[in-house]
Amino acid sequence: MGTVSARSIIVAPSVLAADFSRLGDDIQRVEEAGADWLHLDIMDGHFVDNISFGPAVVATVRKLTKLPLEVHLMIERADHYVPRFVEAGANSITVHVEPEAKHDVAKTSRRIRDAGCHAGLSLNPATPFESIEPYLDAIDLLLVMTVQPGFGGQSFRAEMMEKVRSAREWNTANGKSLHIEVDGGINANTAKIAIENGANVLVAGTAIFGAKDYPAAIKELRGE
Ligand code: DX5
Ligand code: ZN
Repeated sequence: MGTVSARSIIVAPSVLAADFSRLGDDIQRVEEAGADWLHLDIMDGHFVDNISFGPAVVATVRKLTKLPLEVHLMIERADHYVPRFVEAGANSITVHVEPEAKHDVAKTSRRIRDAGCHAGLSLNPATPFESIEPYLDAIDLLLVMTVQPGFGGQSFRAEMMEKVRSAREWNTANGKSLHIEVDGGINANTAKIAIENGANVLVAGTAIFGAKDYPAAIKELRGE
């Protein structure tokens, strides 16, 4: 999934907002529209107050596209389920750092990398940046939630940009190229704010799948 260069903004449509009655068409359309990755939200009704889909849908999406699949696990005991998402064809697996996720973060990240996937770590709005600092050397992507996870269509929380800046400073101070991702309420306006603060990966559900013109929506997110 490559390293960061100053100009490369990665757009990852969130499949949660796709029309599941014609999932194949929607995925083909965003791929042709210029999406870089696909973002797949896995919710278990425990870690978050909603239930989405599991490995079987990820495996279906795998057959529908060559795009890298980034799986966002908003579930308890992610370590137990990681092998199933690897099996389903995930290229990157992002887990949560909060204790409510009930897993050993370092061990799970290592397991994801050992399985040949990129390891991502996510923190909720209430979770301070300090809580993920011990793990930054063991991951490839940091996902700063810009909404409380569980639902699409929520409003962007600009105060989360402080964590995005902290991640950028960490990259600079350590000569690293950790992907800095934002997720939740990302549209043409909030994408601009996120990029200015250091984000290079933009997850968007409503702003893309809710648009009539997918290519224009993706270009707008990149600020083109
Ligand atoms: C929320 C998910 C997001 C969500 C984004 O918990 O992690 O990926 O689907 O949807 P929008 O872009 O509509 O906020
Ligand atoms: Zn997500």
